[in-house]
Amino acid sequence: MKHFALALAAALLAAGLLTPPLLAQAQTIDAGAVVKERCTVCHDTKRICRMLGARDRQGWFETATRMVKNGARVNPAEVEAVASHLAKLPKGDPSLCK
Ligand code: HEC
Repeated sequence: MKHFALALAAALLAAGLLTPPLLAQAQTIDAGAVVKERCTVCHDTKRICRMLGARDRQGWFETATRMVKNGARVNPAEVEAVASHLAKLPKGDPSLCK
């Protein structure tokens, strides 16, 4: 019975029907990509660039949280990652502001 359950779990895993939650959580978030792809849906990066270097992590956390209320499709883990990322970028960072 135990073997059957294991075999079933293995089969489901192989079929991609069972996503191991730990694996999903361990996935690293590419905060730079999130900003480029999802923080530019409503406005361009100029709005963000204007505030680089002027806001700490808490400030960016609050900004990103407000953007979620505005309608940004960024999940809570991504909000954290984006806040840490933006707090570290220098004013006029070329990867974001060119
Ligand atoms: C659904 C649309 C939308 C998305 C997506 C969006 N924003 Fe905004 N953003 C707005 C609106 C509307 C304003 C102006 C009103 C305000 O400040 O809340 C704004 C203003 C801003 C400002 C200028 C105001 C300030 O606080 O300095 C910054 C910076 C900003 N957004 C950053 C971001 C970041 C970072 C993301 C991604 C996490 C993002 N935005 C995604 C709609 C959006």
